Amino acid sequence: MKKVLFVGSLLAMGILMGCSGDKGKAEGKQETVKTQVLKVAFNQSENHPQYKALEEFGKKLEEQTKGAYKLEISPNELLGDQRATAELVQNGVIQMSVVGNPVVESFNSDFAVIGLPYLYDSLEHQKKVFLSDVLDPLFESVKSSGFEVIGAFTAGARCLYTDKPMVKPEDLKGYKFRVMQSDTMKKMVDYMGGIGTPMGQGEVYTAVQQGVIEGGENNEVTYVDLKHYEIAPYFSYTNHLMVPDLIIINEKLYNGMTPENRKIFDDLMKQTIENEFEVWNENVEVAKKVATDNGAKFIEVDIKPFQERVKPLQEEVANRSEMTKKIYSDVRALAQ
Ligand code: GCU
Repeated sequence: MKKVLFVGSLLAMGILMGCSGDKGKAEGKQETVKTQVLKVAFNQSENHPQYKALEEFGKKLEEQTKGAYKLEISPNELLGDQRATAELVQNGVIQMSVVGNPVVESFNSDFAVIGLPYLYDSLEHQKKVFLSDVLDPLFESVKSSGFEVIGAFTAGARCLYTDKPMVKPEDLKGYKFRVMQSDTMKKMVDYMGGIGTPMGQGEVYTAVQQGVIEGGENNEVTYVDLKHYEIAPYFSYTNHLMVPDLIIINEKLYNGMTPENRKIFDDLMKQTIENEFEVWNENVEVAKKVATDNGAKFIEVDIKPFQERVKPLQEEVANRSEMTKKIYSDVRALAQ
């Protein structure tokens, strides 16, 4: 009985530490490939383009590593909110997660620079940045925290939504908009003219319904996925933020891969990031149709006054450190 328990705990430890088929093979102890299941946390639905991209990634990874790795994605915050799942990845309880940039910003405040309002001019610009190596030094800076950032997915451009159009900064006066949990996000909406109110994404619907806040800010896909059009039917195209969603992985697991599998993993991840950009706009169109059919109104906005307003925030964050200065200028240099 004792022995069974002992083996059982060793096995459990192996799973927690990310012990994989690769490790056994590298030590020459194991001939048959043992499949390592990579548990991935995702906070949105199975319809989300990032979920679909990861699903495709998982299929190819399993195929190309000949079964050494298999992805198991849990959508809809089943494994907790993004912040909680980052800790699970750190501790090796799960292996991967997709987290908004503000989550990693709480580990290293330099990350704020890649989630600044009006940093990227377009989806094309952001794609160039994400497929280049300009963000590598920033990503490498969190290596010692137990997880690594291995890439960034686009989540389009975020806009304000509430019970009336928001076309100029004055319209935001006295309006509380939910923002992702970081100081930068709060300051962003404050500079734009409203009151930035940090809270978890899952709480927004009820908070608006109960009048705790007046609205939120997000992309069209999430706006529709979470049915926010029901409680905030005016979606104004401020396009103020293209915040990256970061793909994080347990450090031990990632560094324990054989060079062959690591190359397969990295190459496939790059393709996945690119593919997700390709399908993003189609998803936006589908989402807009659903929202419009349900009574939502999409309002065009002159973004210049908002761009002017957030300049002090851009300057503050871009000049925060040598790292942020370099990343800011490298990202801007890739603009069209
Ligand atoms: C977007 C983004 C998510 C994030 C969410 C939020 O949907 O893709 O990563 O959780 O916004 O506003 O919290």
